[in-house]
Amino acid sequence: MILPLSRLTPPVDLAAEIQRLKKAKNAVILAHYYQADEIQDQADFIGDSLQLAREAANSKADIIVFCGVHFMAETAKILSPQRQVLLPDLAAGCSLADSAPAKEFAAFVAAHPGHVVVTYVNSSAAVKALSDYCVTSSNAVAVVESIPKDQPIIFAPDRFLGDYVRQKTGRDLVLWEGSCEIHELFSAQAIIDLKQANPGCITLVHPECPATVRDLGDVVGSTKALLEAVKKGAADGTYLVVTEPGIIHQMRRAQPKARFLEAPASVKGSKDGSCTSCNTCPHMRLNTLEKLWRCLAEGRPEITLDATLIERARLPIERMLAVG
Ligand code: 13P
Repeated sequence: MILPLSRLTPPVDLAAEIQRLKKAKNAVILAHYYQADEIQDQADFIGDSLQLAREAANSKADIIVFCGVHFMAETAKILSPQRQVLLPDLAAGCSLADSAPAKEFAAFVAAHPGHVVVTYVNSSAAVKALSDYCVTSSNAVAVVESIPKDQPIIFAPDRFLGDYVRQKTGRDLVLWEGSCEIHELFSAQAIIDLKQANPGCITLVHPECPATVRDLGDVVGSTKALLEAVKKGAADGTYLVVTEPGIIHQMRRAQPKARFLEAPASVKGSKDGSCTSCNTCPHMRLNTLEKLWRCLAEGRPEITLDATLIERARLPIERMLAVG
């Protein structure tokens, strides 16, 4: 009797079987820095959103297994439509992407005639299709600076990244009011307390955080930029990490003797007003080693997109890849 694939029993050595299947199927595993350590350890390439989009665009593999969230896998499919793109858990979403439903966003764009639309890559394919440029946190400032100074701009969907770009470029951006459910929760007071308790520590902040938190950063940048700062920093330094702590796995690899502190989130109603586990992205962490193995074994769940949507969403993403 042939069992349905979903009843496959996981092998004892998941990691070995993942590597075997990957070779046998000519697949490549891409993982974002926010993935669990054991998933990062299986990846052919680990990176930030921009690096992973570039890897997907240049991939020669038959299958791209994207260990990240849905919008990232969708971006890979748009850039490599001829390849099969798999996401270990299709439910791995993003609060930023969810904050901008395409219908409401189309109405917002229509209400601002003459504006160029710059959209953070943390958005659905349908929202990308309504945009002129996509950006990641690596190149948002550079993309906005490349647009003529007198050109009005909509920036969506992250109001905090938009505010950061506004600060850096001096441009008056029209912002969509979205935010990342993780980055907006970091507690400025808890960071001040940790800095005081650890004099000389280097504070690393992702630009999806509110200005009160960004202002406390020694380095503000994308996950890749924060990792680079650790690589260039003191080997025995203390680093206060104000982003999803998955990135600490690669930071530890880069500086095994350094100390890494996770910034806590601020949570109303908790005992001391903070929460150390609320800084972990619940969507990113839906992917597990077993789901990664299963998706390689079964060839699903797969990202499928309408060909017209791929065509419409491609240009803003290609413009993103061309900058920075
Ligand atoms: P990076 O582009 O810095 O990897 O950010 C991805 C992200 O989604 C942050 O929440």
